[in-house]
Amino acid sequence: MTQIIDGKAVSRQVRERVSLETAELKNKGIVPGLAVIIVGEDPASQVYVRNKEKACEEVGFYSEKFALPESTTQQELNALVKELNGRTEISGILCQLPLPKHLDDKEVINLIDPIKDVDAFHPVNVGAIMIGDYNFLPCTPAGVMELIHATGVDITGKKAVVIGRSNIVGKPMAMLLLHENATVEITHSKTINLKAVASEADILVAAIGKAKFVTADMVKDGAVVIDVGMNRDENGKLCGDVDFESVKDKCSYITPVPGGVGPMTISMLMQNTLTAAKIQNGLMNK
Ligand code: GUN
Repeated sequence: MTQIIDGKAVSRQVRERVSLETAELKNKGIVPGLAVIIVGEDPASQVYVRNKEKACEEVGFYSEKFALPESTTQQELNALVKELNGRTEISGILCQLPLPKHLDDKEVINLIDPIKDVDAFHPVNVGAIMIGDYNFLPCTPAGVMELIHATGVDITGKKAVVIGRSNIVGKPMAMLLLHENATVEITHSKTINLKAVASEADILVAAIGKAKFVTADMVKDGAVVIDVGMNRDENGKLCGDVDFESVKDKCSYITPVPGGVGPMTISMLMQNTLTAAKIQNGLMNK
């Protein structure tokens, strides 16, 4: 019997945990604060940013949005990040990506103080993840790990296959699975016979951004299937990287789209912001 992993329920549990800890911090006079920077008018980014602000309110954080015009220069953006690095009521800084083409996201990420880098995109944090000694985990892979934990499936010794090698999802995802003793393979567009590799996976994570790419013949009987994709199908309907209808009867657990990985991402951002506030107030070791 396949079980659908309820991302909304797991996400709610994470937020409840964060809310409780935030209330305790407030008793000590500490309020976690998140600064969200958005440049330009990208509609999808505007929705994401609004949801981040709502989540901050829900868990009891202070939040501040910086909506900058499309015409913002690199110097102006850099100056804002530097200012936010120095403000004590701001625990975390997030610059919504993608940025307009004339701006360099790497330059911005490198300027964020690593202790305020709640996306975990700064090279210092990426390196810390590599050696397994980190403060922050990137939100999407961290959310995926929470969902796998929620199934109760033991990761140790299992074969995990990650489809996709992005810096934001695929690469850190592989590292987190490795830290929990999976045998991990990363596959991508140049992988030879990806189908055969995927079909050996006990845990299959799809993060390639291609609608319904993973079909039943690519999935091992009883596998745990995690779908990071967020695409539109031929009818304009939201769908993941996994062909849910054909795959769902073959696996033991599967995440739906929507309602799987999506709701987790912002909850993990809340967790990272809480961690940042604790570290900056000497309540947690760096
Ligand atoms: N754009 C899409 N996803 C993300 C994310 O996780 N962080 C940031 N900063 N921008 C994004």
